[in-house]
Amino acid sequence: MLNDQAAGLRAMHSSQSSASANDAQPVRVIAVASGKGGVGKTNVSVNLGVSLSKIGHRVLLMDADMGLANVDIMLGLQTKYNLSHVLDGDKTLQEVIVEGPAGLKIIPAASGVRRMAQLTAMENAGIINAFSELNGELDILIVDTAAGIADSVVSFCRAAQEVVVVVTDEPASITDAYALIKVLSRDYQLTRFRLLANQSRTPEQGKILYEKLARVCEQFLDVSLDYFGSVPFDHDLRDAVQKQVPVTVYRPNSESAKAFKNLAQKVDRWPIPKGMTGYLQFFVENLFQTGH
Ligand SMILES: Nc1ncnc2c1ncn2[C@@H]1O[C@H](COP(=O)(O)OP(=O)(O)O)[C@@H](O)[C@H]1O
Ligand SMILES: [Mg+2]
Repeated sequence: MLNDQAAGLRAMHSSQSSASANDAQPVRVIAVASGKGGVGKTNVSVNLGVSLSKIGHRVLLMDADMGLANVDIMLGLQTKYNLSHVLDGDKTLQEVIVEGPAGLKIIPAASGVRRMAQLTAMENAGIINAFSELNGELDILIVDTAAGIADSVVSFCRAAQEVVVVVTDEPASITDAYALIKVLSRDYQLTRFRLLANQSRTPEQGKILYEKLARVCEQFLDVSLDYFGSVPFDHDLRDAVQKQVPVTVYRPNSESAKAFKNLAQKVDRWPIPKGMTGYLQFFVENLFQTGH
């Protein structure tokens, strides 16, 4: 399956590679992953997206958790079309994009549509290809990936320049985050990850969690793990989830909202990576940077 996918993407890459790079602003692609579900990926994706929008970036959030879509639920959006309509050729990507709070744009996933959780290699490549339509219209693409290490998670992490791994201080989350990093590095040569400690009791605890995981990763895997930061455990965030409003909008002065604002400012300072690892990453960067 993964080999098929690689072949499909390689074929698409070679058919596109004649497009030459130009000076268009590069789009930063950030994949949010975690291994374990329920640790806060969607909240991180949404609130980081809102916070980046608030400081002037054009942000698109893609709900790539195709098995169990929930960005639209988290935002209380009624969405009519989703990626399956793009896959079927009925809608363009532009037509399925909906606007959320603070100008954040969202591509809804297909809630409950089983097929979406099991895209073929070409369909998966097709989604990535469809992004060429958005060239020049966005600065940051955030991809909220599925739990586990499904093919789609691997594809999106490889396509992104930045992989943010969300982890909480519980054994299952730590083990699953490690397993995800292990697969992405050992089988797909990803070498750099950013760790976000969510639901931390204190900022220090977030940092300790990072150091613990970084030590194991650096000892057993050939990767570097950077510390992105922490988001505190926050009842306001839970209330916001109930209200279907991002906490950064519902309670902009809450502790978690302040943390997201801080993280957005950090993203602003991330250098644009120079070395590109892997053809898919190159492929997607090409899609965004070339004017076709
Ligand atoms: N920082 C936080 N503080 C308190 N609760 C949180 C926090 N982040 C996430 N949660 C809780 O965890 C639940 C799952 O979060 P979600 O973002 O949907 O996780 P995932 O996308 O990884 O499955 C939320 O509904 C919320 O109740
Ligand atoms: Mg989620």
